[in-house]
Amino acid sequence: MTSTSSVGKIAEVREALARLNAEARSADRLMQGITVLLQEKMLKYNWVGFYMLEPGAKPPVLVLGHFQGAMTPHTRIPLDQGICGAAAATGKTIVVDDVSKDHRYLACSLETKSEIVVPIFVRGVVAGELDIDSHFPAAFGVEDRDLVEHCAHLVGKRLESESITTP
Ligand code: SME
Repeated sequence: MTSTSSVGKIAEVREALARLNAEARSADRLMQGITVLLQEKMLKYNWVGFYMLEPGAKPPVLVLGHFQGAMTPHTRIPLDQGICGAAAATGKTIVVDDVSKDHRYLACSLETKSEIVVPIFVRGVVAGELDIDSHFPAAFGVEDRDLVEHCAHLVGKRLESESITTP
């Protein structure tokens, strides 16, 4: 059954995620599938992408990976820049309800109103993050945060199983 409520939609997406996780042959495929699934099914998730820490980079830098949405000028983000940099530097999820009020925000699209960035951990160390932008203010509530953190957790576990090392 398809539901139009946010919670019903999230339950549907979680089921699709479980299937994707079972079927994806690699962390790379899983990340690509997550970007497609979230952007297609979650109507307020207008830009969905992964940034991964470049192995061995000194100072550390986030590099754009799989994404869905318009091309961004921010393909490499140092940890002292942007909401993305802050999430990776602190290892904490960051939800910004109004990006115009956050001085850290690096503009990707003039249409973006709110953003969530969730770190991905591999053996307890930040390896990258999942970044989502919305054209709607305060688009990311508690259920969204749980969903995006679940996605980041699945990717971290898959990277661990592939023995990818972090910088
Ligand atoms: N807004 C992010 C930059 C990445 S784009 O959203 C794709 C930031 O402030 O770090």
